[in-house]
Amino acid sequence: MGPVMDHQIKPSPPKATGVTPSRSSRTRIIAVASGKGGVGKTWLSVSLAQVLACSGYKVLIFDGDFGLANVDIQLGLVPTYDVMDILSGNITIEAGVQHFRGGAGLSAFSFDVLPGRSGVSAVSGMDCASLDKLLLSLRLAKQYDFILLDLCAGIDPITRHLAAISDQLLAVTTDEPTALADVYAIMKLYLRDRRRVGGDDMHCQLVINQASSHRSGIQTYEKLLQACRFFLKWEPQLAGTVRKDSRVPAAIRKQSSLLETFPASPAAVDVGRLVRQVVQGNLPAME
Ligand SMILES: Nc1ncnc2c1ncn2[C@@H]1O[C@H](COP(=O)(O)OP(=O)(O)OP(=O)(O)O)[C@@H](O)[C@H]1O
Ligand SMILES: [Mg+2]
Repeated sequence: MGPVMDHQIKPSPPKATGVTPSRSSRTRIIAVASGKGGVGKTWLSVSLAQVLACSGYKVLIFDGDFGLANVDIQLGLVPTYDVMDILSGNITIEAGVQHFRGGAGLSAFSFDVLPGRSGVSAVSGMDCASLDKLLLSLRLAKQYDFILLDLCAGIDPITRHLAAISDQLLAVTTDEPTALADVYAIMKLYLRDRRRVGGDDMHCQLVINQASSHRSGIQTYEKLLQACRFFLKWEPQLAGTVRKDSRVPAAIRKQSSLLETFPASPAAVDVGRLVRQVVQGNLPAME
């Protein structure tokens, strides 16, 4: 059994981990957001996709940073088409989706990627209604267990909309004061936007990334929790803390997967734990 399989969250013979989520009859859309850029959304999205794919789930990563390519660069893909080609009707969804294959032998896994930008199409015709339609088509196709939306940093209207209509929001921050202030703004707007789109249920979890230790990550979470309790009368859950690990940038530079190359490194172990929490936390049940 190869190293990637150590991160399995759903038993698939011959190795079981004791964690057994039942298979969903519907697609769960998880948005990964942050106020400040560069906190680790794309790396986390790609790593989550890998752990989920290794666990037997069908996964699509949708690069929601429509101006700048993110996901394809980290994966070393060179997309021919992107979401703009689909929205403008030039190509079908199937033609726009890229297949990413990683690992080898028993550790082989694959997931799909919908690139945000291929570098050739113009960023025009992008609006909330057409994205809603696209996501609805992806849901109705029932092809995926999970769609991970790697959102653009910040609070532009399309990003806010995508966060609000997702089934689950992962709000990512580091312990830097600017990242904390910005993720607080993300959560505050999420509560407002979620009500506006008709969702009374708030499925937002925090991820504290690049923490110097789990203890300091939890302290960071508690700071945010206090602010949310006091000002928003609401308590975000903690999805997990991911430790700062010099092997993360090293892996990204090589366009390789940390989970494959250093499965025992702190950040790889933390991501495995994070995925279990994201899939099984007190959030929408995988019915
Ligand atoms: N746990 C970690 N330990 C060390 N470095 C990390 C960790 N997570 C992310 N990084 C580093 O942070 C940088 C930004 O990561 P990434 O591109 O995933 O962030 P992002 O939030 O998607 O950025 P953007 O907002 O620009 O899209 C990368 O260089 C990556 O190596
Ligand atoms: Mg990114």
